[in-house]
Amino acid sequence: MEILSPLEKQLLLLLEKHGGKAEPEQLEMELVKVMNAASWLQSKGLVGMEEKLIKEYELTEEGERFLKEGLPEKNLLKGLKKASLEEIENKLGRKEAAIAIGWAKRKGWCDIVKEGDKKYLVVTEKGKEEVAKEQAEEEALEKIKEGNFEIDEEIINVLKRREAIREKERVKRSIFLTEKGWNVIKAGIKIEEEISQLTPEIIKSGEWKKKKFRKYDVKAFAPSIYPGKLHPMTQLIEKIRKIFAEIGFKEIRGSYVESCFWNMDALFIPQDHPARDMQDTFYCKKPDRIKIDRKLIEKIAKVHENGWKTGSKGWGYKFDEREAEKALLRTHTTVNTIRYLAHNPEPPAKVFSIERVFRRENIDSTHLPEFHQIEGIVYEKDANFCMLKGILKEFYNRMGFEKIRFRPSYFPYTEPSLEIEVRWQRKWIELGGAGIFRPEVTLPFGIEEPVLAWGLGLERMAMILLGLNDIRMLYFSDINWLRNLPLL
Ligand code: PHE
Repeated sequence: MEILSPLEKQLLLLLEKHGGKAEPEQLEMELVKVMNAASWLQSKGLVGMEEKLIKEYELTEEGERFLKEGLPEKNLLKGLKKASLEEIENKLGRKEAAIAIGWAKRKGWCDIVKEGDKKYLVVTEKGKEEVAKEQAEEEALEKIKEGNFEIDEEIINVLKRREAIREKERVKRSIFLTEKGWNVIKAGIKIEEEISQLTPEIIKSGEWKKKKFRKYDVKAFAPSIYPGKLHPMTQLIEKIRKIFAEIGFKEIRGSYVESCFWNMDALFIPQDHPARDMQDTFYCKKPDRIKIDRKLIEKIAKVHENGWKTGSKGWGYKFDEREAEKALLRTHTTVNTIRYLAHNPEPPAKVFSIERVFRRENIDSTHLPEFHQIEGIVYEKDANFCMLKGILKEFYNRMGFEKIRFRPSYFPYTEPSLEIEVRWQRKWIELGGAGIFRPEVTLPFGIEEPVLAWGLGLERMAMILLGLNDIRMLYFSDINWLRNLPLL
């Protein structure tokens, strides 16, 4: 007995009053206190707690209407013997007539007969009888409205099918007295005052000598508090911004809708490249074309056809200028950097962007049709491949990846090209691509020094950092997951 606090004793008595079992919310005690006392009593074996998932229902707007006006089939048949379907439709409107007739027919309350070229509804004997009675559906709707869910499964299903009710699941928690708990109560519970806060008055008066002290309990139950915080993707983007800002980069932005010219042609991606396929890229209807400076198109056309003055042989096909003006949703943020370079051909430059790109992917646990890329370039005299690897390594290290590796790769716009992989769960995961822009890309815009470029996936990295197996989780807005996620 001594080991019970006043709150625990109070809870035991309340449970007794409720017949030995109650939902925490039903008890005449603050919920926080109930849960605190209950968890202690549980650890002492005096109470048990159970959680049950129960189904409850609520009326939809349609259900409310049925309850107020009666079931449509009943209203239809009231005082009716026979009527043409046309007449009924005119009176009730098409939709309502279809519902009323449909259900009356299904219940065997009427027959539909054809006379000449007209169809008639004829009320059956059963119909006449039933219309006068309260229907099980109506009775059920009343019960549900009152919060009573003891209703025949079949009726529930009919009401669900009629979209008259909606299901809600609720976790019902209850606390109950165990045999040991009952025994303690039977032995008699005395609630005596305890000192929980020592004040100068209590000390001065000497009262403390006569009273019991409340033990300080660091493990006491307390409700969790979830303060507002930024979405993990926003936090991550902020962190990446900070890293690039710290190593001297400036952020640039672009737009979702771009031309094929900037998204692909300027990057020396051949016009028959599979990535350009309708299957892979979202092309726009409005606008379906974006005007490009003629001189620029002509120059890039030559680069593709024969290499122009870049020293390359080009792709050796006939460039389609109309193709270049097609509008699309940008498929990578490399379009931001080539645009930036075209307008700022003087070195040096260190810029980055973190933005959304679009690809025609089916959504599954590792693919999204919209995702983000972390793009960047270093444009300066004597920039080289080692610097590129150094920057990427530094970036991933700062993001918390210790082991990274580079593998040779291919992009039409870089040479050499590489792929970056990080080590995660005993596997190497590819996170992005990088390389040095080819002369076919840089020279047409008067860019003469080496440009180190990279494009890295954000969502895949986020999955790793947040420990997710499903990329969709990032955009599900699952409030529980978001609340319990530690700050990055
Ligand atoms: N644009 C490439 C992609 O989307 C990545 C990349 C950017 C590769 C820059 C090389 C240079 O995968």
